Amino acid sequence: MVGGDEFELETEKLATERIAPPQSFVEQANVTPTQLERFSEEGVDAWEMAGDLLTWDQPYRTVFDEDDGDWFPDGRLNATANCLDRHLDSRKNQRALVWEGQLGETRTETYLELSRKVNAFAAGLRDLGVEAGDVVTLHMPVIPELPVAMLACARIGAVHAVVYAGFSGEALATRMAESDSSYLVVSDGYYRRGDAVSLTNRAETVRAGLDQKVTTVVVDRLGEHHEYSLGDNDYQYRRLLDEHRGETVEPVSRRATDELFLIYTSGTTGEPKRVTHTTGGYLAHTAWTSHAVLDIEPGDTYLCTADLGWITGHSYIVYGPLALGTTVLLREGEADQPPKTKLWELVEKHAVDILYTSPTAIRTFMKWGAEYPDKYDLSSLRLLGTVGEPINPEAWRWLYEQIGDEQCPVVDTWWQTETGGHLITTIPGVDGMKPGSAGPPLPGVEATVVDETGTEVEETTGGYLAIETPWPGMPRELSEETRWAETSDVLPNSEWAYMTGDGAVVDDEYITILGRVDDVINVSGRRYGTMELESIMIGVDGIAEAAVVSGYDDHDQGIYAFANPDSDSADEPALRVRINREIEREIGPFARPDRIVFTPELPKTSSGKIMRRLLTDIAHGNELGDTSALRNPEVVGEIESATQSD
Ligand code: WTA
Repeated sequence: MVGGDEFELETEKLATERIAPPQSFVEQANVTPTQLERFSEEGVDAWEMAGDLLTWDQPYRTVFDEDDGDWFPDGRLNATANCLDRHLDSRKNQRALVWEGQLGETRTETYLELSRKVNAFAAGLRDLGVEAGDVVTLHMPVIPELPVAMLACARIGAVHAVVYAGFSGEALATRMAESDSSYLVVSDGYYRRGDAVSLTNRAETVRAGLDQKVTTVVVDRLGEHHEYSLGDNDYQYRRLLDEHRGETVEPVSRRATDELFLIYTSGTTGEPKRVTHTTGGYLAHTAWTSHAVLDIEPGDTYLCTADLGWITGHSYIVYGPLALGTTVLLREGEADQPPKTKLWELVEKHAVDILYTSPTAIRTFMKWGAEYPDKYDLSSLRLLGTVGEPINPEAWRWLYEQIGDEQCPVVDTWWQTETGGHLITTIPGVDGMKPGSAGPPLPGVEATVVDETGTEVEETTGGYLAIETPWPGMPRELSEETRWAETSDVLPNSEWAYMTGDGAVVDDEYITILGRVDDVINVSGRRYGTMELESIMIGVDGIAEAAVVSGYDDHDQGIYAFANPDSDSADEPALRVRINREIEREIGPFARPDRIVFTPELPKTSSGKIMRRLLTDIAHGNELGDTSALRNPEVVGEIESATQSD
């Protein structure tokens, strides 16, 4: 990591007054300041409030075991029983899922219908040999079969690993190899912005790349337009469901500390980073934050625009909201996908109470203009939330005023794949809101901003964001022997410090996130490992060196790749094609750089390290700071002109 001058502070962001939440909201909010006092009175034991939102087969006596770092260690439960079975008495005919497909289709599943499908598929998976603890990889777009498969796995104690449908076959195989997964549930394809994308070669790629034998279940999404020929170890989802229709499978009682699922994210090494979430702690954390932060009530209709392939889909489409018994609206496709009226049409049509989306989508809506949302009745909305990246105050205000009509609190929720659920955000009926600042840490969580030595910095000074208390949604990797804190370059100053990889600044107890400060970039709310992209680029014939940073142009974020060809007479257009093709093959088309700039050299410090900060400044169009530490300062002008002419 590099020194303090990387923290770009826009003091304008820090000056804002807090906006009080609308009184009408406060009066009905799920949590009150008095309830939250338990966190200061009881410390870690107050998380019992989260545990108490769940139904336990064997109630826990200990909330947190400090020695092992385990949450609710003596409790037992089943996640699917919490998301489905326990709701059947009171709301079996309430809709659990309402799906809006890319081709304009709508499907609904009541809690009873969903529960029947989950039971049948759980029986089918068992029939194929899946046992508790086995890893089942799921690779599908946002279709109802995906939550069915997730909940069917959880029911029998199998561990699901959802791999985003946009990943390539290679990326899928790498993840299955890493998790030693022998089961794959894959759709025959998906629709992206209306076009059919085939996934039929996935099972083949996976089989070619793996040592283990793989059993595949194929879900039909593309219908008759698409032939899928089943191989020896392939089964059809629909047929499997038919064969097991009407069967019930007892939910397998799991220890709270047992794995619920794995998810891979981008880390600081060249490899995908595995994150393992637990059955009890994770589910308690997501249920509690869905209740306290998203203010979800059982009768609500809730819309989150994330993809189920990422953590937001796991925590705040499936587990948290279904644990609370709400109606979840699933939308296949991106939030800001045309037609420009689509999202608002859905809000009106389904009388959506809560909308949780990304700052990128909001910026697109702003650019399109208020005339699109203005055509619709959005008065059903009670709360708005954002996640994934910092929201600029202008976009925050647009959301608050144009969409929420100043009647809905906006929660800017900071969290990560690793944290499982929210850690820094306002509590909507309790805290004032400061546009651009995520807010205070959740009650029960301590977050500090530290310098490279692990010492807390003064308020309004930028630094590294550390979480200094354990939280229920923390992943298994954090309670095992190698804590991430010990592998970080920045020294933790308490036993539990988890270095988040983000830069941040505190002002008046509210935390403003400044973005990643490690080898991960966050572009339009998606995470990419720069090392991963760079090593793919260097692997391309004709490329000597590469550096990848995130760039901004008028708020449009992008992946900027700088490449140094190994000869002066390189055929740049051909190299560009090869780089794109390799990234597409190894990760997926979504990871293709927005810009590839060819330079005769990369800027290096005297010790030979690539000076990424300078490249970031170039990509952001910022004034360049001091370049005197460079070994090759003359290269800066060349890169700038290459960037402009690109
Ligand atoms: C960023 C997504 C600012 C941050 C849930 C973090 C945010 C990374 C916010 C995690 C926010 C997420 N304000 N930045 N409200 N929420 N981030 O793992 O850089 O895909 O480290 O999890 O997104 O991304 P991930």
